[in-house]
Amino acid sequence: MEFKEVAVLAAREAGKKILEISEKGFTSRMKGIPHDMITDADTKAEKIIIDMIRKHFPGHSILSEEMGKDSKDSEYMWVIDPLDGTINFSKGIDEYCVSIALQHRRKIILGVIYRPVSNELYTAEMERGSFLNGSRLKASEENELSRIILSADSSNNIETRKKNFEFVLKVCDKVRTIRQFGSAALNMARVASGKSDAYFLHSFNYWDFAAGKLLVEEAGGKVTDFGGNPITEKSKSIVATNGKIHDKILGILNEKKTI
Ligand code: IPD
Ligand code: CA
Ligand code: CA
Repeated sequence: MEFKEVAVLAAREAGKKILEISEKGFTSRMKGIPHDMITDADTKAEKIIIDMIRKHFPGHSILSEEMGKDSKDSEYMWVIDPLDGTINFSKGIDEYCVSIALQHRRKIILGVIYRPVSNELYTAEMERGSFLNGSRLKASEENELSRIILSADSSNNIETRKKNFEFVLKVCDKVRTIRQFGSAALNMARVASGKSDAYFLHSFNYWDFAAGKLLVEEAGGKVTDFGGNPITEKSKSIVATNGKIHDKILGILNEKKTI
């Protein structure tokens, strides 16, 4: 099987398991920091994805949110968030997804995001475009800040959350409106789809964004950190836009004045 087929199958199987658990009931515990939750849906979905990748590509390395990074040294690394939007899931809010990316020599070449509740399958391959259930995606054309929808987000780390809302305050009077959905990967998918025009977060976990980064770029959008630098595994922040308003957003985020 090809990379994309395996990623899609793994995402669909994991999504099926997550839905099954949401119907039957889940168990949960808190992780290291007070607001960070894990459920059995996270761990069971992760196992399905990792088992499938290991079966088809035993030599590849894997970085996955709950497992961490394995010790393999390969040119290929799979980057997995088995359930993005765990807090939404735990409250029955259907804004959550599975996110799987593959990078080769540190370049993301494949991204798959699957939202099981609505059977939305987002796929992107390097230089081949972004798709939702097979239909090509295009980021929005909006170039006026006063007309954009900004997706905001909130980290589970309280200090980072406060800092992020300071940045949201900097832009809040310049955009048409702000929405907060609670899944980083689906926020990226929404920018790729042209439904929202921009998203940013002053915090970074590679598994939240690896698939979404390719999805946004292949849909004609732009993704950097707050300083305008390319995204890498070590980035500390992320800004994803339709490309047209990217520099304007960066300009505001980097303004010296505070609120
Ligand atoms: C979280 C979600 C949320 C974002 C957090 C992430 P998780 O992922 O993507 O939108 O604000 O920073 O940790 O914990 O549900 O996989
Ligand atoms: Ca996540
Ligand atoms: Ca997760």
